[in-house]
Amino acid sequence: MLHQDKNKQRLLKLHPANTLSLYDEIDIPKYKLRQETLDPKSAYQLIKNELLDEGNARQNLATFCSTYMEEEATKLMAETLEKNAIDKSEYPSTIELENRCVNMIANLWHAPEHDFIGTSTVGSSEACMLAGLAMKFRWRKQAENLGIDITKKKPNLIISAGYQVCWEKFCVYWDIELRTIPMDAVHLNLNIEEAIHSIDEYTIGIVGILGQTYTGKFDDIRQLDAAVESYNTNAPIQIPIHVDAASGGLFVPFIHPELPWDFRLKNVISINTSGHKYGLVYPGIGWVIWREKIYLPKELIFEVNYLGGPMPTMAINFSRSASQIIGQYYNFLRLGYEGYHKVHMHTQKVAQFISKELEETQLFTFLNKGTTIPVVCFTLKDFSLSWSLYDLSDQLERKGWRIPVYPLPSHAENCTVCRIVCRSDLSLNLAERLLEDTRIAIHVLSKTTKKPQAQNRTGSVKGFTH
Ligand SMILES: Cc1ncc(COP(=O)(O)O)c(C=O)c1O
Repeated sequence: MLHQDKNKQRLLKLHPANTLSLYDEIDIPKYKLRQETLDPKSAYQLIKNELLDEGNARQNLATFCSTYMEEEATKLMAETLEKNAIDKSEYPSTIELENRCVNMIANLWHAPEHDFIGTSTVGSSEACMLAGLAMKFRWRKQAENLGIDITKKKPNLIISAGYQVCWEKFCVYWDIELRTIPMDAVHLNLNIEEAIHSIDEYTIGIVGILGQTYTGKFDDIRQLDAAVESYNTNAPIQIPIHVDAASGGLFVPFIHPELPWDFRLKNVISINTSGHKYGLVYPGIGWVIWREKIYLPKELIFEVNYLGGPMPTMAINFSRSASQIIGQYYNFLRLGYEGYHKVHMHTQKVAQFISKELEETQLFTFLNKGTTIPVVCFTLKDFSLSWSLYDLSDQLERKGWRIPVYPLPSHAENCTVCRIVCRSDLSLNLAERLLEDTRIAIHVLSKTTKKPQAQNRTGSVKGFTH
């Protein structure tokens, strides 16, 4: 009998009514593998115990990532965990579901029929890398044809300073200059004039963001397209637009269908989104689509033949479970256009309700009242108050709420904001509790006479997740 089992027997005699305390006797490995095996029930319970003190996902209003899926979806995903998304010959039906998802998303984004190409990814980060690489390869071919010395300077990518960190990674990994356009009080989204001025013959493309991570604001993609179109008329190298629609790509088509931000615009050649944000799937699933095959250079499509037949792959990652793809298809099938519209309308209603109630306190200036994606973003009106947004966030954390506070990026960094990301599992009832807790927190803080922390904490970030 194993040492742990003997202990268990002994403890069972001592504490027959408290089986949980039995687990105290089991040695939990931290630095090297246990020598002995453990029965599945004990392993399960021990890990459950380890995870016990983590936050409550539904009260985490810092993340865009889905924290709820229906029971049937979860079951389906659990039943398909073993399927490898890359193994197209072993799992042709799963790949068919992936293709259907690509078709549906391309249709939602008004891609020209028949010639688009796309794939699932782990998330928007991988999708952005692929889109960025495609732009780099296309630029290089055009530059070489024009006799430009491509070794003289690094290629560059133009984007608002409100970019998500995946673009910084993309530029570091593939040796590209990240040419950021500063944000300021007037330009809290992409300053288009400045972006066009920043183009040179080493520019691989411009990224427009549909739902900036910091504020949820949209770059004006229609205006960007018009400016790029006018630039391209006389330019030797055509500048493409990629839209980073990580959070907006599966929200806007249902709530702002009239807004042209997608392939309706001529110079938008590729778009990414995170299925695990407003696509309503658990992490990690993302999507990237190119409007026409010519925008995805052939060098980025690899053929492998060692999984039982020739198959193309255009992902950075190789093996991963197909269950997220299946979860995405479940949502598309189950909800349809009407379902997504209803769910997102409700989430937007909750965001606007929170904004309205917070506005009544007259304490905040709003950067977003949930009018773009359902994000509420605000700053304090009066900096001479005895408390700061950081203090407010600290108070709310005591009630289990995770609400980030952080300064905006360069040139706007003296503006510290608080961001509430509303997701489908934030019900009106829960929102009312958040507001009640906020009112109590403000009341408690107003009674304090200590110096405010926030304005002294310039550059400090609390709980910001992308
Ligand atoms: C605008 C934007 N781009 C890219 C990403 C990265 O997305 P993912 O977490 O799916 O890799 C995020 C994440 O919040 C984002 O907001």
